[in-house]
Amino acid sequence: MNILITGGAGFIGSNFIRYILHSTDYQVINVDKLTYAGNLDSLIDLNENNSYIFELADICNKKELSRLFDKYRPDKVMHLAAESHVDRSIDSPMEFINTNILGTYVLLEVSRNYWMKLDDDKKNKFRFHHISTDEVYGSLAKDDLFTELSPYKPSSPYASSKASSDHLVRAWYSTYGLPILITNCSNNYGPYQFPEKLIPIIILNALNGKKLPIYGDGMQVRDWLYVEDHARALLIVIEKGGVGETYNIGGSNEKTNLEVVNEICVILDELIPSKFKEIISYTDLIEFVSDRPGHDIRYAIDASKINKELNWSPSETFETGLRKTVEWYLVNNEWCSRVLNGDYRYQRLGIKN
Ligand SMILES: NC(=O)c1ccc[n+]([C@@H]2O[C@H](COP(=O)([O-])OP(=O)(O)OC[C@H]3O[C@@H](n4cnc5c(N)ncnc54)[C@H](O)[C@@H]3O)[C@@H](O)[C@H]2O)c1
Repeated sequence: MNILITGGAGFIGSNFIRYILHSTDYQVINVDKLTYAGNLDSLIDLNENNSYIFELADICNKKELSRLFDKYRPDKVMHLAAESHVDRSIDSPMEFINTNILGTYVLLEVSRNYWMKLDDDKKNKFRFHHISTDEVYGSLAKDDLFTELSPYKPSSPYASSKASSDHLVRAWYSTYGLPILITNCSNNYGPYQFPEKLIPIIILNALNGKKLPIYGDGMQVRDWLYVEDHARALLIVIEKGGVGETYNIGGSNEKTNLEVVNEICVILDELIPSKFKEIISYTDLIEFVSDRPGHDIRYAIDASKINKELNWSPSETFETGLRKTVEWYLVNNEWCSRVLNGDYRYQRLGIKN
C-alpha cells in the first residue's frame, strides 16, 4: 500500500511518517512545500529508507498535484499540510485561506478526479483522510467536552480556515461520494515541534535565560496529547475508520497554560539547573504578557468514539510525555538552531493591529 501524505515535513507529519515507516511496510510519499514550518531535518533519519519518497510541491498547485497522483497512484491520501499557528493567522490570514481552504479544495478535486478513474477494487479501498483540530469547535464552558456532534464555532482565522476545510471535505463525501475520514485532535506536543508553539518556546527560552511569556492570566485550558499517540490514532483511523466518519482524538490531559509552564520548569530544574546565578528556579522567568485576541478559554475532547469503535487510547500521561519532550529538546538543540531561520527568532506574533 502507498500513502500520499501532505505536510509530512511539519511537526505531526514528520512524527507520523517515522511512526508509519517503523510499524508498517507501507510506502510513503511526502508532499510538502517546505514553508518555515516544514523541515527535512526532521526526517533526516529516513533518508535511506526505500519506502520513503519526498516531493516538493504546493497543495494549491493543481497541475503539480495531478502529476504526482499519476506518478504514484496512491491507495490513500492523508492531508496534514496547513498553516497551523494561531498567532500568525492573526497577523497574516491570507496564507491560511490559501493553504487551508484553497489548498484543501485543490487536493479534494485532484483526489476526486483520480479516484473516479480507479478500478472498483482500488476505488473501494481509497480513502481521503483529513487531519483537523479541536479548535473548529470554539471555546468550551467548564465541564463540557467536544464530541463529534459539537457545533462549529471557530474563533481565530486559523480555526475558521480549518473549519472551512472540514466542511469542504464533508461536502466532497455527501456530494461526490469521495470516501473521506476526518479527525479532530487536541493540542499535540512532542519532538520536532517548531519553536513558536508553547512547549518548545518555553523550554528554549528557559535554557537561554529568557523570559517565559504566558498569555493573559495563563488560565486557558488545553487537552494535551503526545504526538506519537496522535500518530497511532491516525494509522488506526486510516486503516479501520468508517467511511464518512469523524473521530475526535484527545489526551484527556486538561492543563492550564500556567500549569504546563510550571511543569516544564520543574523538569528543567531537576535535569539542568540554571547556569544563571540569579535564576534559582526557571519559574523565576515567568512573565505574564498581553493576551492573544480572541483567545479561547477551554478546549477538551471526548474521545470515547475512537476509543470504543477503534480501540484507541493514549499511552502517555502528560507527565511522561512532557518529560520525554523536554529531554528531546535538551539533546536536540542543534535541530532547533537549524530550523529557526533568519525571519523568525521567537518574536511575539498576533498582537499588532
Ligand atoms: N499541532 C497541533 O497541536 C495540531 C492539533 C490538531 C490538528 N493539527 C493539524 O495537523 C496538521 C499538521 O499540524 P502541524 O502542527 O504538524 O503543522 P506544522 O505547521 O508543523 O506543519 C505543516 C506542514 O505543512 C506544510 N505546508 C504548509 N503549506 C503547504 C502547502 N501550501 N503545500 C504543501 N505543504 C504545505 C509545511 O511546510 C509543514 O511541513 C495541520 O493540518 C493542523 O491543523 C495540529
